Amino acid sequence: MKNCKFSLLVFCISFFCFLLVSNQACRWHNHTKQTYSHKQSHISPRPCSLPDPTTPPEEPPTKPYHSSGIFDVRSFGAVGDGQTDDTVAFKMAWDTACQSDESAARILVPQGFSFMIQSTIFTGPCLGGLVLQVDGTLVPPDGPGSWPKHISRHQWLVFYRINEMSLQGGGVIDGRGEKWWNLPCKPHRAIRFFMSSNLTVQGLKIKNSPQFHFRFDSCRNVHIESISISSPAKSPNTDGIHIEKTYDVQIYNSVISNGDDCVSIGSGCYDVNIRNLTCGPGHGISIGSLGNHNSRACVSNITVRDSIMKGTDNGVRIKTWQGGSGSVSGVTFSNIHMDNVRNPIMIDQYYCLTKRCTNQTSAVFVSDILYSNIKGTYDVRSSPMHFACSDALPCTNLTLSEVELLPAVRYKVSDPYCWNAYGELLTRTIPPVSCLLDGVPRSLLGHEIERC
Ligand SMILES: *[C@@H]1O[C@H](CO)[C@@H](O)[C@H](O)[C@H]1NC(C)=O
Ligand SMILES: *[C@@H]1O[C@H](CO)[C@@H](O)[C@H](O)[C@H]1NC(C)=O
Ligand SMILES: *[C@@H]1O[C@H](CO)[C@@H](O)[C@H](O)[C@H]1NC(C)=O
Ligand SMILES: *[C@@H]1O[C@H](CO)[C@@H](O)[C@H](O)[C@H]1NC(C)=O
Ligand SMILES: *[C@@H]1O[C@H](CO)[C@@H](O)[C@H](O)[C@H]1NC(C)=O
Ligand SMILES: *[C@@H]1O[C@H](CO)[C@@H](O)[C@H](O)[C@H]1NC(C)=O
Repeated sequence: MKNCKFSLLVFCISFFCFLLVSNQACRWHNHTKQTYSHKQSHISPRPCSLPDPTTPPEEPPTKPYHSSGIFDVRSFGAVGDGQTDDTVAFKMAWDTACQSDESAARILVPQGFSFMIQSTIFTGPCLGGLVLQVDGTLVPPDGPGSWPKHISRHQWLVFYRINEMSLQGGGVIDGRGEKWWNLPCKPHRAIRFFMSSNLTVQGLKIKNSPQFHFRFDSCRNVHIESISISSPAKSPNTDGIHIEKTYDVQIYNSVISNGDDCVSIGSGCYDVNIRNLTCGPGHGISIGSLGNHNSRACVSNITVRDSIMKGTDNGVRIKTWQGGSGSVSGVTFSNIHMDNVRNPIMIDQYYCLTKRCTNQTSAVFVSDILYSNIKGTYDVRSSPMHFACSDALPCTNLTLSEVELLPAVRYKVSDPYCWNAYGELLTRTIPPVSCLLDGVPRSLLGHEIERC
């Protein structure tokens, strides 16, 4: 009994000491205490770690973060040595900034530091707009061996239900995909924005994602500008930017080289404007694949212009599975330079990954596609123009104007290919296209097409 009381006393004293010490160590996160009670947080707060005695304490940020609307992740305990797990500090910085009523609270990831963070969901809605200023480097745990078992392997950084946010800066987001690329199971995307709106991504370098670098789903008003995405040509499924059920999108002035689509546009996207993009190596710009598992897909009002495809497998491609429904319409590909591209212009309504897809009688309807001023060279192993439209539902109103594609190897040429493709040439093309069908297909007359 006496012993017991004694232990209780010891416990109380040490607990009291702990409170004192941690309060001291946490002086920079003082007011986070009230706000760190986030609904969706899936990481439980841990007690603050004491500063490492071997390193001198860091200079506090030049301005106190709470008065200037700047939330430096180091103020929340992030170390930035590339090894220490800084997840909790990032979550605290996020939650504090998110609950701040500053008009544009800025979370600062300072230059000269590399912050390791685990798979994390940054959740909104926030009180005001947020800026995540990445001037340093962000990395995930290095490969499957150091990725904790209990933490989601599907994705790394997720931004969920954010209404106004800018992810920007001169820093690097390094997905450390090298150790994942040859494995069957890996995180599907480095950065995912989900059910969010009014987003800007600007200036950053994003590299070596295990799979997709960016995915936007169910978002609206997305502006991406001056970013660079790179991973090796042989890294599988490392799409640059994938959008899905997302509308009002601008992608400008960016460079993407990777092992899959530069930009891929999935079902439910419309009002997408892509300008001044340099792609390659990789698989080019792709609408699709659409209509998988007999699904209904709708894509409309997509413009890609003033862009360059360098050594890509495809240039501009629309791909749909047989058996789908819905439509792709109002697509303009304009002023695109092709440099040794395998399939510069392609519509493939027989998209199939297994070679065992059976012919089906429904299809995603493809119409009103304009190819204007598309010039350059193609890799002669494939046809420079390939329009493989559905047997059941022809493509209609394909328009070609100033399309001039020369073989990259001079003494060989490939012919354009058309199947069930209706459209017209506004100018003569190189090579000449004689396989487009005129007018409106008879099968469509009196046939109610299910447009979106
Ligand atoms: C900590 O927060 C309390 C209450 O919010 C406040 O009164 C106090 O001044 C803060 N201390 C520091 C060091 O910011
Ligand atoms: C987000 O954008 C929509 C229009 O796209 C606008 O109505 C809304 O006010 C914007 N919200 C903020 C917080 O800017
Ligand atoms: C196109 O984007 C590149 C960066 O990829 C930039 O350097 C260049 O200034 C942009 N061109 C225009 C006309 O905006
Ligand atoms: C197509 O999208 C652009 C933005 O990329 C928008 O300005 C335009 O109004 C849209 N056109 C139609 C017909 O909706
Ligand atoms: C499917 O249709 C295409 C085009 O009509 C034809 O070439 C192919 O042989 C058909 N495949 C099967 C399995 O019926
Ligand atoms: C054909 O497509 C173009 C866009 O490429 C569009 O402006 C035009 O209205 C379409 N024509 C018809 C008859 O639908």
